[in-house]
Amino acid sequence: MKRVAILISGGGSNMVRLAESMSGDHPARPVLVGSNDPAAAGLGKARDLGIATFAVDHRPFGGDRAAFEAELIRNLDAAEPDIIALAGFMRILTPGFVRHYEGRMLNIHPSLLPKYPGLNTHARAIEAGDMEAGATVHEVIADLDAGPILGQVRVPVLPDDTPDRLAGRVLVQEHRLYPAVLRRFAEGCRARLDLACH
Ligand code: GRF
Repeated sequence: MKRVAILISGGGSNMVRLAESMSGDHPARPVLVGSNDPAAAGLGKARDLGIATFAVDHRPFGGDRAAFEAELIRNLDAAEPDIIALAGFMRILTPGFVRHYEGRMLNIHPSLLPKYPGLNTHARAIEAGDMEAGATVHEVIADLDAGPILGQVRVPVLPDDTPDRLAGRVLVQEHRLYPAVLRRFAEGCRARLDLACH
């Protein structure tokens, strides 16, 4: 059984979908959910699912990312994770952290990478007049929102879309994409998965 730790910053809807998917003949199990925000709503949802949680508040560390990450690593490694899944984890990670989990850390990003790394992806897609948007699951490397693409799902941009409306439709598809990619990854498959929206 692969042991999966999930990092969140907010509501944790992707985390819940990932955790719920890991049952039965799935080759992985959720062992830990962590957050940089002790008030993240997702922490309570993880506890309701019976998963151990921790929080390391980034704010007392000021600009000392390395010290913050050392605490993260201490908490994560105590659970001996095989896979780290970032699911709406809104802290930029240093190359040292990324190296520590090299080849076993995934992220979901709400755009069709390499388009729109960083924030405000949906507003940028609408602004650019794109016909489609979507989400990407990728392996984490030191560069932000880069790294080998493991899967994508595409969503049409509608004529009257607002960033919020588009984000909602993409999020529904993130909930399909991330569990599907995680399962393949846990099985040792890194071939790219492309999902059509239905
Ligand atoms: C998702 O859209 C994720 O791609 C983005 O933040 C959102 C997190 O949502 N980076 P949730 O916390 O999983 O509900």
